[in-house]
Amino acid sequence: MAHATKSGYASKAAARGIQQAGLWAGPRRHVLDLDDFTRAEIDEVLLNADGMKEVLGRGVRKTPALRGKSVVTVFYEASTRTRVSFEQAGKILGADVINVTADASSVKKGESLLNTVRTLEAMQIDALVIRHPHSGAPYFVAAHLDTSVINAGDGTHAHPTQALLDIYTIERMRGKLSGKKIAIIGDILYSRVARSNMIGMRKMGADVVVSGPPTLLPPGFKPGTVVPEGQPFEGIRVAARVEEAIEGADVVMVLRIQRERQDAGHLPSLREYSREYGVNVARVKLAKPDALLMHPGPMNEGVEISSEVAHGPQSVIEDQVTNGVAVRMAVLYMLCARARNGGS
Ligand code: CP
Repeated sequence: MAHATKSGYASKAAARGIQQAGLWAGPRRHVLDLDDFTRAEIDEVLLNADGMKEVLGRGVRKTPALRGKSVVTVFYEASTRTRVSFEQAGKILGADVINVTADASSVKKGESLLNTVRTLEAMQIDALVIRHPHSGAPYFVAAHLDTSVINAGDGTHAHPTQALLDIYTIERMRGKLSGKKIAIIGDILYSRVARSNMIGMRKMGADVVVSGPPTLLPPGFKPGTVVPEGQPFEGIRVAARVEEAIEGADVVMVLRIQRERQDAGHLPSLREYSREYGVNVARVKLAKPDALLMHPGPMNEGVEISSEVAHGPQSVIEDQVTNGVAVRMAVLYMLCARARNGGS
């Protein structure tokens, strides 16, 4: 009950302009993936994001909630949505946001990851948002810093804030995830978006069905079966055909095909992929009439998704981007408020 009371308080504070930041502080120090989130904690982020979205919709998008706080984003990989939305989120909350790109930093002179983040921490920062091509890099960083660390995508492993914004988008547009059929189509093996979403959506009670080329399915994902209990991603259904995954779905989430997978021999050709797995108007018709069409971006239009679908009436791809700012505001607020209170 105490948890629920805190949630309600945080949301109301957010709706009033987040004037109360610093009075609420949860126990969480880092956001590395959703596997260590409880369902209640995910709900708490979503509730906070509601207040943040209200702030985002104002004529003057500015609150002093994180005034005096410093957020550093350090990206070792390219990004548009994640990097800019964290910057926008931090600035709206009144934090100072400093962006570091590996290519324009002393990383180019050979400075190690550890020395880079220790150097940034020595400048008295409150949160470090990191994207890195190596799976696990944010965990390594979190183990060596006192600063809160947010994983903005690590290798093929996780992208927790993407999953949170996807869950937020679905819940606010179609209600609770519990019992909803979510079809995730594409590169399930290498997609950090798919991994974090499978974990988060199963926690929220969704019926998650995936489909993709057998070469792009994780070990234990056998087409036509359910991932057995006791295995990673237990309960995820693996469709034998893409049409089966989409049929009757409440949500169709299309993943980006990473062209480098073709070079590695995991894909025949992009044309063949498009024919076998591409989400087009005919395939979307198999889903529920009001199904949401999602994509984390960036898209390869004409490969994994047709332009008609990407920009069609069921597409909520731009809503995902807007919600990404609100959800990242919530995450920064929750972590930095904790830091202000000197929580554990
Ligand atoms: N969805 C996502 O992570 O996009 P960016 O690579 O543009 O950040």
